[in-house]
Amino acid sequence: MEIQPLNTLREAMSGRFGVPPANVRFVFSPYRICPLGAHIDHQLGPVTALALDRGVYLAYAPTEVREVRLQSLNFPGEVHFPLDAIPDAQPGDWGNLARGAARALQQTYRLSRGLVGITAGSVSEGGLSSSAAVGVAYLLALEDVNELAVPAEENILLDQAIENGYLGLRNGILDQSAILLSRRDHLTWVDCATVQYERIPRPPAMPDFVILIAFSGLQKALVGTDYNRRVAECAEAAAVLLEAARRTSPPLSDSMASHRPPLLGHVAPAEYLAHKHLLRGAPARRAAHFFSEVERVAQGVAAWRNGDLTTFGRLITASGESSIVNYECGAPPLIDLYRILIETPGVYGARFSGAGFRGCCLALVQPENAAETATCIRQRYLSKYPEFRDRAYVFLCRSDDGARILRL
Ligand code: GLA
Repeated sequence: MEIQPLNTLREAMSGRFGVPPANVRFVFSPYRICPLGAHIDHQLGPVTALALDRGVYLAYAPTEVREVRLQSLNFPGEVHFPLDAIPDAQPGDWGNLARGAARALQQTYRLSRGLVGITAGSVSEGGLSSSAAVGVAYLLALEDVNELAVPAEENILLDQAIENGYLGLRNGILDQSAILLSRRDHLTWVDCATVQYERIPRPPAMPDFVILIAFSGLQKALVGTDYNRRVAECAEAAAVLLEAARRTSPPLSDSMASHRPPLLGHVAPAEYLAHKHLLRGAPARRAAHFFSEVERVAQGVAAWRNGDLTTFGRLITASGESSIVNYECGAPPLIDLYRILIETPGVYGARFSGAGFRGCCLALVQPENAAETATCIRQRYLSKYPEFRDRAYVFLCRSDDGARILRL
C-alpha cells in the first residue's frame, strides 16, 4: 500500500475542509481480480478472487450535520447531499456511489452523522472493480462515523444494493465479496448463491507469482455495455432448461431468488446435460460458458490447494477463451491483448479482468523477469494499437488484504 496518497489526502482535508490532520481517518479499499469464475456471479455460480495492493483511498472526518460533502483528487467538482433527501442517480456522476451507499445503509440503519471526505484512486478505466471499491469505502466510512458494526457479509449485500438498486447494473456479488473478504496470499472462493466463502492460503510449495495488469486503453462505463443483455440471455437459457426439467422453483437455498428471473445457478449440471440440445444461439453459448466455468472454478481451487500454479494458470487462460467464444464479451483490442499475454514467456495464464467489455486483462507471471514481461507486452500491444499510446499501461502488483479502516 502506498503512503504518498495518505499524506496528500491529509493535506487536502486540511486545505479544502479545514479538518486538523490528527482528525483525518482513512479507508483503503483494494481493487480486485477474478482469476476464475467470470460472469457467473450474477447466475449464482462460485467465483474466485484476489484483492490487490492497489486501490482507492478515502480520507474522511465525521460531521454533526446530516450531510455528506465529498471531493476527489481524480474528479472535478464537489458532491454534496443531505442524508434526509438523497437524490436519484445521475448518469456518469461520480457522486452516485456515495449517494447509493448512504441510501442503502439507511434502509436498515439511521445515520445520525454525515462526513466530509476526499477520495484518491489510481485507476478508473474498468476491469479492477474500482466502482465497488469506492462504494465499499463509502459504506465503511459512513458506518465508522455512525459507530455501526456491520459484518462483511452484510456489507456485500449493501454494496450490491448500490449497484443493482441504485445504479441499475444487474451484476452479482463477485466484486464486493473480493474487496471485503480477501486476505493477502489467499485465494478467496465465494459461493454466490449463499455468500459462503473460504480463504484458501497459497501453499508453501506453490511457486511465487506476480499479478500483471495490462490496460487496453478502452474506456466505457459498465452501465451502457452489453453486460445486462448477457445477464438476460443467461436467464433465457435458464428458463428453457428449468422448463424442460419441469421445475420452476430453485433447488438451491437462495435468499435472493424471490425477486430474480430464472438463473443458471438453479439448473443442476445433470439437467443441463440432459436438455442442452434445446438451447439455440446466444442462450446456448451463455449456458456453455456458465457450466464450463463452474467446472473450471472447481478444478482451479483443487490446483491452488495442490500448489499447482501451471494448471491454475492454464484454467485462467481457458476461462478467457470461453469468455470470448461463449460469453462473447471482448472488444477486439482486449482480445488481442489477451492473445499477446498468453503468448508471452513467463505468463502462467491470462484473461480479461472483470466484465471484459473495456478496461484491462490480468495475468499471473513469473516474478524473476516480470518487469521485462510487462515492457514486452506493452510494446507488442502498442505496435498494433498505437492510438492507445497515452492510455494503455501495464503494472505489476501483489495480493493484499480486503478493505479496511487504517488505524494510523
Ligand atoms: C463485473 C461485475 C461483476 C462480475 C464481473 C464478471 O465486474 O460487476 O459482478 O459479473 O463483471 O465476472
